[in-house]
Amino acid sequence: MSIKEQVQDELRPNGVWQLSEAMEGILAKAIRRMPSGEVSTEERRYPTTHKGMRACLDSFFARHFFQAQEVILDHVSNDTFLSQMANGQLRILDIGSGSGASALGTIDILRSVADLSVTRKSIRIDCVFNDACELCLSYSRQLTKQYFEAISSKILRGRIITVEKSFPASQAQLGRIARLTGSFDLILMSYVLSPLFDNYKNQELAGAFHGLGQLVNPNGLIVLIQDQFHKEQIRKAADMLKTSVRRHKHKQQIYSKENSNDIQDYCFFSAVKKGGRA
Ligand SMILES: C[S@@+](CC[C@H](N)C(=O)[O-])C[C@H]1O[C@@H](n2cnc3c(N)ncnc32)[C@H](O)[C@@H]1O
Repeated sequence: MSIKEQVQDELRPNGVWQLSEAMEGILAKAIRRMPSGEVSTEERRYPTTHKGMRACLDSFFARHFFQAQEVILDHVSNDTFLSQMANGQLRILDIGSGSGASALGTIDILRSVADLSVTRKSIRIDCVFNDACELCLSYSRQLTKQYFEAISSKILRGRIITVEKSFPASQAQLGRIARLTGSFDLILMSYVLSPLFDNYKNQELAGAFHGLGQLVNPNGLIVLIQDQFHKEQIRKAADMLKTSVRRHKHKQQIYSKENSNDIQDYCFFSAVKKGGRA
């Protein structure tokens, strides 16, 4: 069986994405500890309060976690990426990171790939979270730390750096980090295209996407993920990166309703640009 098939067996048994025991426990505990109550749709999508973050974790965390896993699996289970992993270090940049759902989904896939691969080496993963919202950054840092504490794996926690600034204004700072610590193997932008296209001019975003090419290493990937209702935005962003859009449909288990075994189909879009300049 290939590494990809083995990872699917572990994380997507019978074709349904499921959380590992460690991740499910961390998510359930985080939700239990936070205040509950009604919040607006906007606050659920872009939380700025603990109540909003609880609603966001409840509705979107697992969804975005699995979507990152579905998109990334093909790319990180191939020989090029496996040899890159064998260097013992990987760097992830998550722009518009929110709770860190897509970075954590990615790290969880890397864990599965690393533990199934023949390499004996441990692999240190550095994470840079960039978000305009301080509360989001504190959750992404906290959940990532808890994840690494909960697992026993070849992957180890490296540096966690948070950058509280709107992208693309954050680009200069991200560039300094890349120069100091090394360019990124994976740059993730999951569900952040809508606020970007709402708030910035196309020309400004074209320059920003072009700049991402200087932050990603030549074997690395820039990964965009967006829902089916914003196809035009992901298409525009993919054009700016000179790559194409792919439609995905997958099945996942629903979290975090207790005692629920519900399964749901989700449809979404991705665009992946391989390293080098955009
Ligand atoms: C819908 S959430 C997605 C979070 C996460 N990437 C995921 O997939 O679950 C969008 C996040 O982008 C952040 N955001 C919005 N505009 C931004 C900008 N210009 N620069 C950085 N972050 C931004 C918001 O604060 C929010 O945390």
